[in-house]
Amino acid sequence: MLDSLLTMSKATHLECSLCHRRREAGRIANLCECGGPLLARYDLETIRRHWRRREVGHGPASMWRYAPVLPPAPESVTSLGEGWTPLVRTRRLGARVGAESVWVKDEGINPTASYKARGLACAISMCVELGIRKVAVPSAGNAASALAAYAAAAGIAARVFVPRDVPQVNYLGCRACGADVTLVDGPIGDCGRLCAEFCAAEGWFDMAALKEPYRLEGKKTMGYEVAEQMDWELPDAILYPTGGGIGLIGMWRAFDEMEKLGWIGSRRPRMIAVQAEGCQPLVRAFQENEPRSRYWEDAHTVAAGTARPPAAGRLSGARGGPRQPWRGSGGERPGSPGRGRRAGLRRGNPSLPGRRGMRGRSRKTVAFRLSGGRRPHCALQHRIGAEIPGSLRDALSANRRRRTGQTRRPDHAQMSDHPF
Ligand SMILES: Cc1ncc(COP(=O)(O)O)c(C=O)c1O
Ligand SMILES: [Zn+2]
Repeated sequence: MLDSLLTMSKATHLECSLCHRRREAGRIANLCECGGPLLARYDLETIRRHWRRREVGHGPASMWRYAPVLPPAPESVTSLGEGWTPLVRTRRLGARVGAESVWVKDEGINPTASYKARGLACAISMCVELGIRKVAVPSAGNAASALAAYAAAAGIAARVFVPRDVPQVNYLGCRACGADVTLVDGPIGDCGRLCAEFCAAEGWFDMAALKEPYRLEGKKTMGYEVAEQMDWELPDAILYPTGGGIGLIGMWRAFDEMEKLGWIGSRRPRMIAVQAEGCQPLVRAFQENEPRSRYWEDAHTVAAGTARPPAAGRLSGARGGPRQPWRGSGGERPGSPGRGRRAGLRRGNPSLPGRRGMRGRSRKTVAFRLSGGRRPHCALQHRIGAEIPGSLRDALSANRRRRTGQTRRPDHAQMSDHPF
């Protein structure tokens, strides 16, 4: 039964999250004409009849264990083993922050060292299915690394637009996988604009977050995993280091789908979006009770990946569309209590709440760690089967020798051959 589910076209159609217009699945698509992001929809009734939650455990130890609710056909799947990351019970941390029990979902062990691997594995698999051969993405770093790796694994050309001060590990990872890297003198918003202009002019496919429907599908598997790993009982609270909020939206979608599949009930965790002081567009939107977030000027934070000033305003708050999950989830406001956020950042982890924030409120809490810092690019190289460009080999081994941290920058001038 499961086999026949896997071979049928699983996404029945794409639906605009703003105007709800439907379009055929299995076609190349960016945004709707109205500017709304498109969402993949499934025949969950049929899937429900053929796929029981007890069967999920027979699937692979990766996010593809949820293949019946992911769009690519099995023969299109490009996987480097992403997902099915550990949910680690922390005994002392829970006691310290006043929660009865805290689990950490460690996304850092994904193939490209962040949860971005999930979204891009799914989206690149769909590129394989739809015959897309040239893809580009704007990124603060982690999505660029993931796009470069999955595109290389699929034999697709990749170009990334990243800020000039992109973390070294991302820059080298992209180059090692053969992607063209365009360094942008400006913040992530400028990268998005340049990427869109480049794609329009040169006919490349723009894979910016929410500009195509399939990255979100990969990310939603975090929600399925949390449920399965907690024996199909959702936690009381989820803490999420938030940039655009895409991961939260993805998980919220997963909870809805699982309810329709009859796997969980209607209870939802409080979704707590944690943003650093230097870039809080969603916290501000929530505090001001605005349905959409506004651009955050002069974004800065040491929490790499979360400085995302334009945020996911386009998708959130739309009537009937996927709501901002933190609004519909029981009233926890995004952002973390000041002391906690600072303390968390000092320890290099923005996702830990302060004592005040959690005491007596949430019994079971899941905190996400979305990226894991360094990862040896060469290990990935073997899985992808791509050649490391000669000029990079020395730089990579020098990098390994120096054991530089996430904040050290590569000598871009020496290594880049980008046109800008
Ligand atoms: C390490 C890290 N944390 C948090 C985020 C923000 O993620 P989201 O857009 O799902 O809120 C990102 C991605 O941009 C990231 O790379
Ligand atoms: Zn629309």
